[in-house]
Amino acid sequence: MKIPNMASKHLLTVSDLTQKEILALFKFTAKLKAMHKARQRHDLLKGKVLAMIFEKSSTRTRVSFEVGMFQLGGHALFLSKDDIQLGRGETIADTARVLSRYVDAIMIRTFEQEKAEELAHHSSVPVINGLTDTHHPCQALADFFTIFECNKTFKGIKIAYIGDGNNVAHSLMLCGAILGAHVAVATPKQYRPADFVTEEAMILAQKNGGHIELTTDAREAAKDAHYLYTDVWVSMGQEKDKENKLAAFREYRITKDLLSQAAQGCKIMHCLPAHRGEEIESEVMDSEASIVFDQAENRLHVQKALLTILIRGHHS
Ligand code: CP
Ligand code: NVA
Repeated sequence: MKIPNMASKHLLTVSDLTQKEILALFKFTAKLKAMHKARQRHDLLKGKVLAMIFEKSSTRTRVSFEVGMFQLGGHALFLSKDDIQLGRGETIADTARVLSRYVDAIMIRTFEQEKAEELAHHSSVPVINGLTDTHHPCQALADFFTIFECNKTFKGIKIAYIGDGNNVAHSLMLCGAILGAHVAVATPKQYRPADFVTEEAMILAQKNGGHIELTTDAREAAKDAHYLYTDVWVSMGQEKDKENKLAAFREYRITKDLLSQAAQGCKIMHCLPAHRGEEIESEVMDSEASIVFDQAENRLHVQKALLTILIRGHHS
């Protein structure tokens, strides 16, 4: 089976990849997904091991990476910060050096993006960002693969993100910009995406024929959108700001009324976990328009493709 190339050794942010590389990743993902549905075995990563460091909770990321490695003929190790020496002060650099001697790739979910970068800097094996405060690249890749399955193109496709300008919004903007889509983001002014991410996304959009738009008006963003996307208002690590956020985001919810602003046939997206009744109405999340569980499933398929490319590309 032909495995696509990727210039970057690591995936720390979506912009580590070019448009061409993402499209090749999606093609490979579609192939692995079809093989999985046909119950065809391939053992692309036989004998390979992935270490998964978690400093925050997870359902999808943990399970999809672990199941993905198993389906590829490899193995995954769940390393909670409470159980490894990282939690007792061993440095991230030493952790990277040690794990590199045992495993073929490392996935990390942590707080600061710099920590994932430092891990990658000291690791001799590929490092995958499984979510930081700033980015969630695996999520955005699965999201755009899901859109690709629906539309087969990103040209002329408008995705409206409503809510907090967080890690998920950042990666969605960057990925949309690289793929030439139109991403409109509606947030309260004080919770808009980080300026440095917006600037990077705008440059990437210009280069790739995409369009990035920021507004404080949810209805304006939702107008004629083909996809409405949201995420929780309070991300992991922001619990102290909960009261302020709940007040600020009242107008930034995906509701039936907001959906009526969007294009005919508009689909509903959420990275999950959802806080039903807060950022999204339960009724909308359970409606025919919702593709939230397809997104969750596609984490598995996209990450299997990504793991194969990163591990086989550098170590065989
Ligand atoms: N969407 C996502 O990353 O979910 P988890 O936090 O459950 O991994
Ligand atoms: N923005 C959320 C995403 C969870 C998958 C968080 O960081 O908690």
